[in-house]
Amino acid sequence: MKVLVVGGGGREHAIAWKLSQSPRVDKLYCAPGNAGIAAVAECLSVGAEDIEDLCAAAQEKEIDLVVVGPEVPLSMGIVDAMNEKGIRVFGPNAKCAQLEGSKAFTKAFLARHRIPTAGYREFTDKDELLKAVGIYGYPMVIKADGLAAGKGVVIAENEADAVKAIEEMMGDRIFGSAADKIVVEEYLVGIEASMLCFVDHNTIVPMESAQDYKRIFDGDKGPNTGGMGTYSPSLVFDEELKERIRTEILEPTLAGFQADGLDFQGVLFIGLMITDDGPKVIEFNNRFGDPETQSVLARLDSDLLDIFEAVVDNRLAEQEIRWSDRRAVTVVLASEGYPGSYPKGREITGLEDVDDDVVVFHAGTKFADGKIVTAGGRVLCVTATGATHDEARAKAFVNVEKIHFEGAQFRRDIGLIHKH
Ligand code: AMP
Ligand code: GLY
Repeated sequence: MKVLVVGGGGREHAIAWKLSQSPRVDKLYCAPGNAGIAAVAECLSVGAEDIEDLCAAAQEKEIDLVVVGPEVPLSMGIVDAMNEKGIRVFGPNAKCAQLEGSKAFTKAFLARHRIPTAGYREFTDKDELLKAVGIYGYPMVIKADGLAAGKGVVIAENEADAVKAIEEMMGDRIFGSAADKIVVEEYLVGIEASMLCFVDHNTIVPMESAQDYKRIFDGDKGPNTGGMGTYSPSLVFDEELKERIRTEILEPTLAGFQADGLDFQGVLFIGLMITDDGPKVIEFNNRFGDPETQSVLARLDSDLLDIFEAVVDNRLAEQEIRWSDRRAVTVVLASEGYPGSYPKGREITGLEDVDDDVVVFHAGTKFADGKIVTAGGRVLCVTATGATHDEARAKAFVNVEKIHFEGAQFRRDIGLIHKH
């Protein structure tokens, strides 16, 4: 089979790497890919949001299955566009993609189906919102409704910070129309975990759990990023918690999709807060997490192509999905200045010194004059596995130290537990 992966980050590298191990994949393409993905797939110079060009490329290359990595093309309707042209594609349609594209849409869905989540209110008027500052006390959780590259959530510690965030979002419109509506939530206290699930029309199957580190600095300090590291499985998951998540969150979510006519096919990423009252949904995303995918797929023993096809054909219930008992830890190397503005084009060295059983997934890299250089905020993701969590963690950091580029930053506490 010929498979095309859409995207060019660490998540897409992990998806392409796993697909490349399938004996049934004859030819793998990635659009646009990056310098690391080029080792496992032929990269096409088509942007991940150029839907017309992606459809044309899929038809020209006679692609049997397209796999969409990032949220933006999903929200733009890439799946609907490809389905109309008869192209087989893994990912939710635009209607379902609202589950990530609009936080208010998801909060209403969760409330309607009585799925545990933080209490909330939504606002479209800045003055009304300014009057409501502190309604749930502090910290105050303020969220742009629409897509904002993972940066649209502000946790304001006091009134001044809350007012500043609201002025930036609704006054200066730093996120454009994504903050025309704002959702304010109760602040949840607990331990966060990410649960990625395969979903088709009849079934929801959780993958192994993962823990993400969203803030830029050690100790969960500084602004939010796309994710600075992950490990899998989560250290707070036990059978009792998994069962509660299944009955209180997964089953009502699938029933809600069916009741609301949401024909979800793809990956539903559930951001969870494990509170003293049990698990609560922080957010839904409608795609694999980045960098959760790197740690989770490193532990998948089954053929990923089989699973993707089972989802697209609504046969997920019959699909066996096996996981390794090994533990995985992923540490992200980011550019100086990230998540703010950052330089590009810095030479990366030491990649060839990394241990054979450690995988370096490329997030933002490209070739320049025969060298691999930085080309994004998050640059590389170093994923190590081990028989124990501590072994995987130690191996990840030993190998991170072997890789160099000017201004590289990474968190040294990936793999340690933090409570919020
Ligand atoms: P989101 O983009 O919705 O995942 O939010 C980004 C991050 O903000 C989450 O990973 C949490 O760390 C934090 N967050 C979001 N909503 C809440 C909430 N209601 N209570 C506490 N923390 C939250
Ligand atoms: N790592 C969080 C995300 O992919 O949204």
